[in-house]
Amino acid sequence: MRSIFKEKNLNRKKILLRLDLNVPLDNGKISDTTRIDKILPTLNFLIQQKTRIIILSHVGRPKGKIVKELSLKPIGEDLKKKLNTSVRLIEENIYEIKNKDFFEKFDEEILILENIRFYAEEEENDYRFAKHLASLGDIYVNDAFSCSHRAHASIHQISKYVPSFSGLQLDLEVAALNKITAEITKPITCIIGGSKISTKINIIKNLMPKFDNIIIVGGMANNFIEYFGNNIGKSIKEKNCSQIVEEIILLSKKKECKIIYPEDVLVSKNLNGSSKNKELDQILPDEMILDIGPKTINKIIDIIDNTKTILWNGPAGYFENPNFANGSIEIAKKIIENNKTNKIFSVVGGGDTVSLINRLNIANNFNFVSTAGGAFLEYLEGKKLPGITALN
Ligand code: 3PG
Repeated sequence: MRSIFKEKNLNRKKILLRLDLNVPLDNGKISDTTRIDKILPTLNFLIQQKTRIIILSHVGRPKGKIVKELSLKPIGEDLKKKLNTSVRLIEENIYEIKNKDFFEKFDEEILILENIRFYAEEEENDYRFAKHLASLGDIYVNDAFSCSHRAHASIHQISKYVPSFSGLQLDLEVAALNKITAEITKPITCIIGGSKISTKINIIKNLMPKFDNIIIVGGMANNFIEYFGNNIGKSIKEKNCSQIVEEIILLSKKKECKIIYPEDVLVSKNLNGSSKNKELDQILPDEMILDIGPKTINKIIDIIDNTKTILWNGPAGYFENPNFANGSIEIAKKIIENNKTNKIFSVVGGGDTVSLINRLNIANNFNFVSTAGGAFLEYLEGKKLPGITALN
């Protein structure tokens, strides 16, 4: 993978820059600009290098049709304000645009092509479409790690037709993920949660041979608690999962990776209620498990203290109700404490965990926070991502 940041002589080159500007839009207003803000260092670098930038991105899933609500217009306007430069949205049909149309007549630095998924050819990974896109610039840069699990024309096929490079954010993301999958400093621990164990089984299986500890928390821990003969009342659980739990336990023995699940829990009669600490054999039929208990927290803190690398994917409890946020907060506090003294390398990812740490305003206290949803999970499953493979 060649990084654009190591390239010399970029002066006046036309850069086709694939970004993930797939931000949430509500009536044309951006409700979360994290993905735009994160990409500003890349854009500033390319501006300093006096390149001419053509941004390619999608928003939402328009499925090959023009959907006005999914226009990149508000994103272009936000970029214009933040970069203090001209940013022009190109709304013409892509096939009617030629390379020489860009930057000749205008004193412009940044152009944005309208939502690339307005063309069915994008998701079809169509080579003619990719070839035409490639013809619009001199260099292609993928700085959209979070889209790199998609074999789409502007992510995968395009790199066959133009010199291709990785961008700053993609470099950072891959380097951080390498530290938890390839260049590991041991002992290494994963704290994994979420409501459905079936969606995480492939990650757990892929990590187990390399990891020392896998700590199961959140809704999916309920399947473990029940498997070991406890009544879990009306807690959420995925049905018919005892075979998956059994598979994980067997494999953990074979691979010498410890599986840790809660020893005590916090329960309530409903999601908005107050919390009660319970041993696993005390849970009543009308109670639900909503967080880990103090004994479990102490055990996890102890493991974190003896860990050099940690991956955290999934909150420990139903943190939306502050009565059940304590488990996640204590985990975060311990990782941050050890991070400050460089005792640990920490990677955090997954929608709920990122929203938790954003809510607590502590995202800058971890070594790396991944905002890539599907791509992050597929990478952890050990899958090859088409966008990354294309750059290699
Ligand atoms: C994301 O939000 O994870 C990326 O933009 C990819 O979007 P997609 O799941 O619609 O391909």
